[in-house]
Amino acid sequence: MRLLILGGDGYLGWPTAMMFAASGHDVLAVDNYLRRTMALESDSSPLFATPVLEERARIFKQKSGHDVKVQIADCTHALAIDRIFADFMPDAVVHYAEQPSGPYSMRSESAARTTLLNNLGVTFNVIWGVLNHVPDCHIIKLGTMGEYGTPDIDIEEGWIEIEHKGRKDRFLYPRAAGSLYHTTKVLDTDLLWFYARTYGVRVTDLMQGPVYGLSTPEADLDESLMPNFHYDDIFGTVVHRFVAQAVAGMPLTVYGRGGQTRGYLNLLDTLQCVRLAAENAVDKGQLRIMNQFTELFTVNDLAEKVSRVGNQLGLKVEVNSIANPRREKEEHYYNAHFTQLLELGLEPHPMTDEVIAGMLKTVARYKGKIERRKILPRVQWNT
Ligand SMILES: NC(=O)c1ccc[n+]([C@@H]2O[C@H](COP(=O)([O-])OP(=O)(O)OC[C@H]3O[C@@H](n4cnc5c(N)ncnc54)[C@H](O)[C@@H]3O)[C@@H](O)[C@H]2O)c1
Repeated sequence: MRLLILGGDGYLGWPTAMMFAASGHDVLAVDNYLRRTMALESDSSPLFATPVLEERARIFKQKSGHDVKVQIADCTHALAIDRIFADFMPDAVVHYAEQPSGPYSMRSESAARTTLLNNLGVTFNVIWGVLNHVPDCHIIKLGTMGEYGTPDIDIEEGWIEIEHKGRKDRFLYPRAAGSLYHTTKVLDTDLLWFYARTYGVRVTDLMQGPVYGLSTPEADLDESLMPNFHYDDIFGTVVHRFVAQAVAGMPLTVYGRGGQTRGYLNLLDTLQCVRLAAENAVDKGQLRIMNQFTELFTVNDLAEKVSRVGNQLGLKVEVNSIANPRREKEEHYYNAHFTQLLELGLEPHPMTDEVIAGMLKTVARYKGKIERRKILPRVQWNT
């Protein structure tokens, strides 16, 4: 297949590009380094520097013999993305190219505007790139489980049948996002649904939970091929923050009561899910929504796991509750379904003690680089 990976420099994009290239596909990775720029601007440096995309592709070729083509381009620029579709003519496009941080989107009006315009702008341009040049191309879009919020009923995979006054129909599952970033994902889904039902584009929208991990078969070939790892309050997800805190000798900071439940998955499973989506394209005009996680944990469960394994490794790990900077329920019902990816063949890699120990050991190699002041919350939802 010819696979276009938008956001190919990112935490997920780079391992995805390597994975598809290593399986013999023709891969073009596109990025404009927005995340690198935003990290600098918000004082949120990653744990270790990663080479720029061209350099990563060169090292990957040297280590594996496989090619990842690279292009630096801003996917909000209609002309740039139009040329990319016209020249590369992809069979599938994996669209990761968004501003992915809830806290970043809540920093200021300007950060919220950038998030909205960037995320919706890229999705819109991808749709038109497909319509203009490769109408059969399968759009694989990364959404988030955060689109659903925490409703008091079971969360289905994207759709719900509603009976009203004796009649029934199938609708997009109601969404109630908790940040402006998550709201852009809701809007993306609506945009894709409009173009699927009206113009016949094929779409898979993957409602993904927070991803953790650094190890993939290709990333393990060389230290310089590892994905970017953020442990800060803005771009770091909770598992990575806890791992960095445990290594740095800081208490793990649980926001509020810690009963927030979410679905998590290993980076290896993101790669499997995206591969399974690509290998099983949907029909024209179909919007397939799949929930993409493998295990449900509360924040307290995660703190317990990381502290227990950290203590076994000789770290002295404490857990502290701090005032919650976000507006969210800290105790709630949560029963989210996820069967479609398992039915397609996903074989989950659960968060075992060995997996946590592996992350702690990798992060410990960079212990001296952890900047403690960047971990505690710097963005408040209600200011
Ligand atoms: N990592 C997670 O835990 C997680 C969970 C759920 C959903 N997601 C979604 O998965 C996708 C990838 O997330 P990630 O963690 O790899 O984030 P990331 O920030 O590391 O990667 C996104 C990449 O897209 C690029 N990008 C953004 N806007 C662009 C533009 N206009 N033109 C070109 N490139 C652009 C960025 O520079 C970055 O390299 C995002 O859409 C995110 O919302 C991630």
